[in-house]
Amino acid sequence: MEYGIGRVSGIDMDSLVELFNDAYSDYYVDVQVNPARLRGLIEREDIQVDNSFVAYEGQLPVGVVFLGVRGKRGYICGMGVRTSRQRRGVGELLMRRALSESRRLGLSSVQLEVVAANRRAIALYSKLGFVPVRDLGLWERNTPPPAQASGSVPADHGTRTRRDDVTAPLQTEVRVGAVRMAGVLPLVDAFNEIRPCWQNEAQSLVKMSDRLVGYVSHVDSAATAYVVFGDSAGGLYVADFAAAPRLVSAQRQSMCEILLSAVDRDVPRMSAKAFNIPLQGYQEAVLRARGFDLTLAQQEMVLCLKWR
Ligand SMILES: CC(C)(COP(=O)(O)OP(=O)(O)OC[C@H]1O[C@@H](n2cnc3c(N)ncnc32)[C@H](O)[C@@H]1OP(=O)(O)O)[C@@H](O)C(=O)NCCC(=O)NCCS
Repeated sequence: MEYGIGRVSGIDMDSLVELFNDAYSDYYVDVQVNPARLRGLIEREDIQVDNSFVAYEGQLPVGVVFLGVRGKRGYICGMGVRTSRQRRGVGELLMRRALSESRRLGLSSVQLEVVAANRRAIALYSKLGFVPVRDLGLWERNTPPPAQASGSVPADHGTRTRRDDVTAPLQTEVRVGAVRMAGVLPLVDAFNEIRPCWQNEAQSLVKMSDRLVGYVSHVDSAATAYVVFGDSAGGLYVADFAAAPRLVSAQRQSMCEILLSAVDRDVPRMSAKAFNIPLQGYQEAVLRARGFDLTLAQQEMVLCLKWR
């Protein structure tokens, strides 16, 4: 079968939504979209509709790949083939087209996240040279927030508490305060040794800043940790958190627990979610301590197109 390829900018929104929803109809999590949600995704994740592709069987759109671009980095934001047309080479055709476009644009890397159980997608990405770089988790809590992190969090923002009662304590006072997003975003880059996944990095968070709140902890005048979160009818959404890399792991955990405790105190929601937070580090320990369970593991994969 010969397939035609067109650009996402050349397809109407209703057909694109129908194609996307068909391709993701039996997916691991509900990612069904409507036009407004898909437009939001395109805008938030810097999807380039002129550099993203649709495969056609005659007039019928049968597959789509979305390429996001930030500087020299590319991101496969979504890739799917109509269920009735899978296993016929369409996915590979589209991915190869997206990668040749990435090279043409001079990108140095392309990254993506894939559900760890999605063996067919992982097989496709591995075949094309992507390698796993780390594990991320989707986290959920559907129980009342646990008690405050030991050592208690200040009752009011800006007040002080002693933190001399926790493991690996800093033996000093921690202040927690709400901060404008513009004040938090530099910390997202400074506090993460590997930048957060595409949806949680500063370039994404800035686009949601009207819906997100930032809390930052300080010891003396130095920022020690941040959390960015949102509150909606669906519950609490923890978009991202991290602590200063100059602290040891136990201190980073302790600082983030203080912040997430402060969030739970101020926005006490039974239902809470956190997306694509790294596994096997202090961030996982923080979420578990705050009552979250892992609901889905993801793999972050990267393909280097240029070596320095
Ligand atoms: C993953 C997906 C895009 C693959 O597209 P596809 O058109 O079915 O895949 P192709 O026919 O082009 O296969 C290309 C390669 O993918 C892998 N692959 C695809 N389907 C597979 C399957 N059922 N089992 C094992 N490997 C599979 C193989 O490596 C295959 O290469 P091979 O033919 O040399 O073995 C498609 O299954 C899909 O849309 N799934 C639902 C949405 C989704 O999971 N998207 C990915 C999100 S990260």
